Amino acid sequence: MTSMKILITGAGGMLGTDLGNVLSPEFEIVGLERRPVTHLTVPYDICDLTQARKTREAILSHKPEAIIHTAAMTDVDYCEEHHDEALENNVAATEHVINAANEIDAPVIFFSTDYVFDGKKKGEYEETDILNPLSFYGKTKRMGEEYILQNAKQALIFRITWLFGIWGRCFPKSILRQAETMPQMNVVNDQTGRPTWSWDVALAMKQLLCTKKDVLFKPGTEIFHLGNTGTVRWADYARFILKGAGLESVKVKNISSAQLKRPAPRPENSVLALERSRKVLGLKLRSWEEATLEFLPKLKEELAAIEAKAKAQAAEKENRE
Ligand SMILES: NC(=O)c1ccc[n+]([C@@H]2O[C@H](COP(=O)([O-])OP(=O)(O)OC[C@H]3O[C@@H](n4cnc5c(N)ncnc54)[C@H](OP(=O)(O)O)[C@@H]3O)[C@@H](O)[C@H]2O)c1
Repeated sequence: MTSMKILITGAGGMLGTDLGNVLSPEFEIVGLERRPVTHLTVPYDICDLTQARKTREAILSHKPEAIIHTAAMTDVDYCEEHHDEALENNVAATEHVINAANEIDAPVIFFSTDYVFDGKKKGEYEETDILNPLSFYGKTKRMGEEYILQNAKQALIFRITWLFGIWGRCFPKSILRQAETMPQMNVVNDQTGRPTWSWDVALAMKQLLCTKKDVLFKPGTEIFHLGNTGTVRWADYARFILKGAGLESVKVKNISSAQLKRPAPRPENSVLALERSRKVLGLKLRSWEEATLEFLPKLKEELAAIEAKAKAQAAEKENRE
């Protein structure tokens, strides 16, 4: 049992929840969330990180030894149409977290994204490649990175990619939901990436904190790419998910991103090079196929539990009335 105290922002989000579950009880975890979250098992305070004074007070009152900043506005299409909110939640909030962390000399782990690249490169994206985000979400994440590079006393930036998990909106969930009502679905076939389970990212953070704490506490900022290994296009990923869930009868039709007409453009190539995090930090995640196959039954269990809870609550309400 280590006594290291870690504060997680966005503690009720997809990655934040898995981090809390993976890191406790070995680490002393405290979370910050914008609103009450029923599924959280770690203690947390309500704090809107867009408010500088409240964020400072929350962080200084807990005085964590390290901060994992996962909170962000992650709905890429919403960000495209709500620039001010995206700036507040992805840039200003990050500034507030970094400023408070600097006051207490706490290193910060920040999560960025493959969407900081334009996806036009042939081959994998290295940490040092030129940033050129296509979407407003990607632009705000780049601005967050820039603030950290210029101002953080100690920080690590992990660019992660195509995240899926139990506790948030993600591609496998949306495919399985569509499969409930549609015998055929259209899925884009011109974007390639590495689907990455938030649970595996959380396990990697635990490994980092247990074995490479010195890198985290080093002055300055370092950037790493992290993800499950292997690559796939969304349409083939959908087929894999359907097969894994025993729903092969549901057909997937390839379409182009242009046909989907989403508000925010996405990079064609989202494949991040994983060599540096493997060499410097010893972090190597399993393949996306293995991760997805372990994830699917857990998702099914969780969805069934949520449905049962909703039914029980409805019955209780009916009895009361
Ligand atoms: N999801 C992906 O595919 C993906 C890919 C690459 C990188 N990333 C990065 O990885 C990190 C974690 O992503 P995720 O998918 O776990 O995100 P998520 O599920 O959307 O969770 C983010 C959490 O942060 C909270 N939050 C947002 N703004 C806040 C604020 N101003 N004050 C307090 N809490 C706030 C959200 O609360 P509300 O729900 O109330 O807004 C939510 O609980 C993010 O930094 C994201 O940019 C994600």
